[in-house]
Amino acid sequence: MKIIQHSMVRLGLFALALLFCLAGRSALAQQDQANYIGEKKCIECHKQENSHFSHTAHAKVFRLNPRNENESRVCETCHGPGSLHAKSTKDKNLIIGYTKEWGTPVEKQQEQCLTCHKGGNRMHWDGSAHANNKISCSDCHNPMAKFSAKGLLKKASITETCQTCHQQQRAEFMKRSHMPLPEGKMSCEDCHNPHGTTTRPLLKADSVNDICYSCHAEKRGPFLWEHAPVRENCVNCHHPHGSNHDKLLQAARPYLCQQCHANTNHPSAFYNASQFPNAAGNPLAGGGVLNSRVMGRACQNCHAQIHGSNHPAGARFQR
Ligand code: HEC
Ligand code: HEC
Ligand code: HEC
Ligand code: HEC
Ligand code: HEC
Ligand code: HEC
Ligand code: HEC
Ligand code: HEC
Ligand code: HEC
Ligand code: HEC
Repeated sequence: MKIIQHSMVRLGLFALALLFCLAGRSALAQQDQANYIGEKKCIECHKQENSHFSHTAHAKVFRLNPRNENESRVCETCHGPGSLHAKSTKDKNLIIGYTKEWGTPVEKQQEQCLTCHKGGNRMHWDGSAHANNKISCSDCHNPMAKFSAKGLLKKASITETCQTCHQQQRAEFMKRSHMPLPEGKMSCEDCHNPHGTTTRPLLKADSVNDICYSCHAEKRGPFLWEHAPVRENCVNCHHPHGSNHDKLLQAARPYLCQQCHANTNHPSAFYNASQFPNAAGNPLAGGGVLNSRVMGRACQNCHAQIHGSNHPAGARFQR
């Protein structure tokens, strides 16, 4: 009995799902049956939107220099044919909208934009972290007005646009030591391509190091004496965005070095201020006379060339 009930419920659900599917389809098909009515008609009702839109790159190209029939449709180039919408403005299935409230599926929205913007920087859009998370072009772009000097972004700058969602990274750039991004000397886009790349996480180069070398070329070497963790990955020691330790370091020195170098011929114990006697010779007082291994740049007081050395006797990075 239970089993029968179960399968009846399932059948019911299936039928419901099918109904929804068909409803969705017929809605899309409905706009397909609409005709293009031209921008003049749209503007009759959307004056305000049009006055902002007129300052954008699309308005200029589509109106003054259309390369084909599609572009000369202006509003309907992106929003699709509008004859049915003009008659029944409340029906959300009759025009392609890009706002969350309007509810047009993200796939449909992207498809519109990608008819002209496929390839190039968007070569790897499909399957990118943003596409997979159903982020739509209009989550970052607002082609209806000129909010940014370049790129038709939603906010005045790239960084502000990204930070509307990426609050954690925003906080990282507020730390004591950070890349000069809040100062406006760079943007998220110097290192990431938000449209997708082959390197995680959306990095614009083949590896973390290649990104860093693009600006810090002197760290590329080659060096006679390489320091293995530097060659492997800069983020072994640095945070790419910001840190509360000096020079964006992942940990304070000497702890940073001691994470990997516990068993050197130096005393192998963890160095900290309290291990060293104060001026009166009291070993427990702590913090009195600091050993050179913890003071200032700690290990680097001696091992200064930490990114690699070209000195014949630089095997220990002292010169
Ligand atoms: C008769 C007046 C009228 C005409 C003509 C008209 N619209 Fe609309 N449109 C409206 C109204 C009213 C709404 C808002 C409906 C709502 O919010 O419930 C709307 C909503 C929209 C939306 C969705 C806005 C959102 O919230 O995302 C888009 C896009 C749109 N119109 C584009 C167009 C385009 C393109 C044309 C020309 C093909 C056009 N409209 C012609 C009245 C009109
Ligand atoms: C390049 C593609 C494109 C063109 C061309 C375009 N729109 Fe839009 N439109 C969008 C996008 C994307 C949004 C969503 C903006 C947002 O996130 O608020 C939008 C939003 C809208 C809205 C909702 C209200 C708003 O401003 O957010 C209306 C209404 C609208 N467009 C009407 C028009 C009309 C009228 C024209 C022609 C004068 C036009 N659009 C031309 C892409 C376009
Ligand atoms: C019919 C073709 C077409 C469609 C559809 C289209 N665009 Fe464009 N887009 C263009 C053209 C043409 C330019 C101007 C290119 C240039 O100046 O090189 C442009 C420029 C842009 C720019 C750069 C603007 C600048 O000032 O740097 C962005 C961003 C953009 N489009 C986003 C979008 C988005 C988002 C959509 C979908 C809502 C969209 N486009 C739909 C053709 C299109
Ligand atoms: C996560 C945010 C984000 C998303 C999502 C996004 N973009 Fe962009 N887009 C940007 C940024 C940032 C720029 C660079 C603007 C600048 O250079 O000032 C840009 C630039 C562009 C440009 C102009 C320069 C170029 O790359 O050719 C076009 C065109 C464009 N985007 C189209 C799209 C389309 C189409 C989609 C959806 C498939 C999309 N974008 C999704 C953030 C985004
Ligand atoms: C509308 C919200 C939104 C905006 C705006 C946005 N992102 Fe994202 N981003 C996400 C989501 C959601 C994810 C996937 C989940 C995650 O990793 O947090 C993501 C993931 C990422 C990742 C990690 C990718 C990975 O492989 O783990 C990077 C890097 C990134 N975004 C950069 C950017 C940059 C740069 C911008 C601005 C140009 C931007 N995002 C704007 C929502 C957004
Ligand atoms: C100097 C280059 C650089 C800049 C500028 C930069 N990032 Fe990153 N970002 C990286 C690197 C490198 C990683 C990978 C770190 C790793 O592998 O552990 C990363 C990782 C990320 C991630 C993945 C999660 C995480 O934190 O590891 C997100 C999301 C992200 N960045 C967003 C942003 C946003 C948003 C901005 C702008 C506010 C930005 N990034 C600016 C280099 C940069
Ligand atoms: C787009 C260029 C650019 C990229 C890419 C870049 N940096 Fe920087 N970096 C800078 C600039 C500019 C400064 C600030 C220099 C100054 O103020 O003298 C800086 C400063 C630094 C500093 C020193 C901070 C301080 O307090 O003195 C470190 C460490 C650093 N970057 C590491 C990295 C690492 C690791 C990467 C790769 C994840 C990277 N950078 C990628 C431009 C870049
Ligand atoms: C083994 C840890 C370690 C690794 C890995 C590492 N660094 Fe550093 N880096 C440091 C330390 C420690 C400092 C502080 C140096 C000082 O105070 O003299 C520093 C300082 C810097 C500075 C600012 C001062 C200067 O020397 O220009 C830059 C820029 C920098 N690193 C870039 C990089 C880049 C790029 C990579 C990857 C190729 C990298 N670092 C990998 C430990 C490391
Ligand atoms: C992520 C791990 C890691 C970190 C952090 C690290 N190192 Fe290294 N270091 C290594 C590795 C691996 C080698 C190569 C060891 C080998 O060849 O036997 C090395 C080699 C060295 C050497 C040469 C030793 C030898 O036997 O040739 C010195 C000196 C050195 N590191 C000092 C430092 C200092 C100082 C710091 C902190 C600024 C530091 N390291 C941070 C992993 C690390
Ligand atoms: C007062 C100077 C000085 C300081 C400070 C210092 N070292 Fe050294 N370190 C040396 C000398 C000298 C050698 C031996 C060089 C040689 O054999 O050519 C050495 C050798 C090393 C070696 C090579 C392997 C070994 O055991 O001989 C490593 C690894 C190392 N130091 C790591 C560190 C770390 C990690 C710190 C910080 C906790 C540190 N050093 C602080 C002077 C110093």
